[in-house]
Amino acid sequence: MSWFYRRMIRPALFTQDSESIHNRTLAALGKCSRSPALCSLLSSLYSAPELPVEVFGLKFPNPVGLAAGMDKHAAAVPAWAALGFGFTELGGVTWHAQPGNPAPRMFRAVADEALVNRMGFNNPGAEAMATKLREWHDSGRWPKHPVGINLGKSKITPNEKAAEDYANSFRLLRPLADFFVVNVSSPNTPNLRALQDKAALDEILAALQQINSPQPKPLLVKVAPDLSFEALDEILELITRRNLSGIVATNTTIARPETSDENLRRTYSETGGLSGRPLRARSTEIIRHIHRQTRGALPIIGVGGIFSADDAWEKIQAGASLVQIYSGLVYEGPALVGEVVRGLRAVMPR
Ligand SMILES: Cc1cc2nc3c(=O)[nH]c(=O)nc-3n(C[C@H](O)[C@H](O)[C@H](O)COP(=O)(O)O)c2cc1C
Repeated sequence: MSWFYRRMIRPALFTQDSESIHNRTLAALGKCSRSPALCSLLSSLYSAPELPVEVFGLKFPNPVGLAAGMDKHAAAVPAWAALGFGFTELGGVTWHAQPGNPAPRMFRAVADEALVNRMGFNNPGAEAMATKLREWHDSGRWPKHPVGINLGKSKITPNEKAAEDYANSFRLLRPLADFFVVNVSSPNTPNLRALQDKAALDEILAALQQINSPQPKPLLVKVAPDLSFEALDEILELITRRNLSGIVATNTTIARPETSDENLRRTYSETGGLSGRPLRARSTEIIRHIHRQTRGALPIIGVGGIFSADDAWEKIQAGASLVQIYSGLVYEGPALVGEVVRGLRAVMPR
């Protein structure tokens, strides 16, 4: 199936600009999500076999999830389960609705199977997200797998008020999803990554944990691949102190690979975060470091450049308990999810 997508479908899709295709795909998946018959069809084409794992108290039918940024409007919540994903991370969502950066803001580096994006948290805001999630819950079509929400900071909120901004979204959305990810690592909101600094992050985590009761929901932090190991260690110390459930490693990178290819150079000169194949090794390196430093005690969701079962297995061997995919879906198509789960099933018992 991946072969068919790469040879027949991808070339047609790639004649159009990447954000338009993204929006059309999400609209189509949104339609499928509202139709039980279409969801069953998707499921019969793409469902993945069982490979159950239990992490931070949640049961996952398989360890392969949808990464944040793909479904910022919660437009296709049931469809992700039908495509075989073992969990979904919706968002990033911010307290205030915001349009994001001007287009064009998403670029393909096809020869490297990478993407550069500077979307800037375009999203409908936490209130609209809550309404949408309530609709899915009420429709009886809520998926059986865990659903998480990626929380970002509104662009209009200064960093000094970041804790309040994250807390507002968390308070509203907390009853509506299974786990939450504090995103302080997107390169596309000015100064957001400064919130990875110890004092700023501690204030945010303290504010969130204060409202995380009764029955605390798993709370994780998502980190950038551009952090030094020393900076990462400070975050690990905070995560332990504030009793968080895990870490998502990693977001996109501001680094660029060396290349002599003119087309790639042009794409890489765009401002934004790079994802896809060139991110794979660095993200695995970060996962390995976190696993070593925490002696395997902190659950890690590994993300960055997963295009095959081998890539996912590399992240799991480095210490990840769960993995996520974004760019791999763009380049390999939806059959990738089942392929990765089947590949992992073949190696995991060993
Ligand atoms: C267009 C686009 C939008 C993204 N938006 C978000 C976001 O809102 N929040 C977030 O934490 N990560 C976001 N990401 C990062 C992905 O979740 C993921 O960490 C990154 O793309 C690396 O995985 P990949 O190589 O499989 O794409 C986005 C990525 C892309 C390509």
